[in-house]
Amino acid sequence: MFLYLLGLLVLFYLFRWVREQPRVSDKANKYVYITGCDSGFGNLLARHLDKLGFRVIAGCYTEKGEEELRKGCSGNLITSHLDVSSKESVAKMAALIREKVGEQGLWAVVNNAGVSVPSGPVDWLNIDDYKVMLEVNLTGVIAVTLSVLPLIKMAQGRVVNVASVFGRISPVGGPYCVSKYGVEAFNDSLRLNMAAFGVKVLCIEPGFFKTNVTDTGIQIKNLHALWDRLPQDLKDEYGSDYIPNAVKTIKEKVEKLSDADLMKVVSCMEHAVSAVWPRKRYSPGWDAKFFWLPLSYMPSCVADYLLLKEAIPIAKKVH
Ligand SMILES: NC(=O)c1ccc[n+]([C@@H]2O[C@H](COP(=O)([O-])OP(=O)(O)OC[C@H]3O[C@@H](n4cnc5c(N)ncnc54)[C@H](OP(=O)(O)O)[C@@H]3O)[C@@H](O)[C@H]2O)c1
Repeated sequence: MFLYLLGLLVLFYLFRWVREQPRVSDKANKYVYITGCDSGFGNLLARHLDKLGFRVIAGCYTEKGEEELRKGCSGNLITSHLDVSSKESVAKMAALIREKVGEQGLWAVVNNAGVSVPSGPVDWLNIDDYKVMLEVNLTGVIAVTLSVLPLIKMAQGRVVNVASVFGRISPVGGPYCVSKYGVEAFNDSLRLNMAAFGVKVLCIEPGFFKTNVTDTGIQIKNLHALWDRLPQDLKDEYGSDYIPNAVKTIKEKVEKLSDADLMKVVSCMEHAVSAVWPRKRYSPGWDAKFFWLPLSYMPSCVADYLLLKEAIPIAKKVH
């Protein structure tokens, strides 16, 4: 019986592996629009797809990002300034893309741009902290997608949304998880709505990887900035040991958990863009596969117990 089940499992993985090998043809005539190409996954994906022969349209937040990306790529790659939180900037980029792609439409958009600060305990933040991040991580994803959706329908192309394992489980306070849960919801409704048009919608849910999003220097600076503006009574509730303990946790856990091999994520993005039969969801990273996603399927009481065991202690604990 055990061998029979094992055989079935091996057959399933073999079948899936074979099915996932073929890539789409005519890459030289397929345009791919990527947001957030200054650094991290977006930057690496733009370079990788350019090497594979796709026509990449890279949205960069800074001029420096544009210049550096262009230096290492072929003349086919186009860069342009893009702030996904600005209506005008998103519309300007969509107009440029419309002009470039013409009748053939846009093959894919990769919604990659994102930020991870301000982040902290919920009662440290105000509504503007939430709005600033949601404008980039969630409204930005929706705005960019809507701005080019007719072009993607023309090409029967793809929308690739970069969410996170924190779109499946919410172990930290602040807008990051809220924004990524939102991306997941947008992704799933769009996937169903677009199926009839032959448009595929794919979601990437990475674990922890070494980029600016997980940069410990940026995270620690953000924590200090939030702490400094707290009223004294709130500081007293958390206690003077809170910040040193939080800094230690960030240094030990985030630093150790984060995988330096960004190609694990970029290969999933490339597969979503170019495979004939892409997966609906990708979860790159060992921590995603073996910790965060299994944890997200557990009953809340079990997940809470495990997460609270690791929580940073506060001074005024009420039992
Ligand atoms: N790294 C991880 O562990 C991890 C895990 C799960 C999900 N993700 C997601 O992966 C995506 C890419 O992040 P990353 O890890 O590669 O970090 P990253 O290097 O910081 O990349 C994010 C990119 O977005 C750009 N950006 C920021 N604000 C923008 C705006 N308003 N408009 C347009 N672009 C903007 C950034 O530009 P600047 O560099 O100029 O600021 C940067 O190029 C994000 O959506 C992130 O949430 C990351």
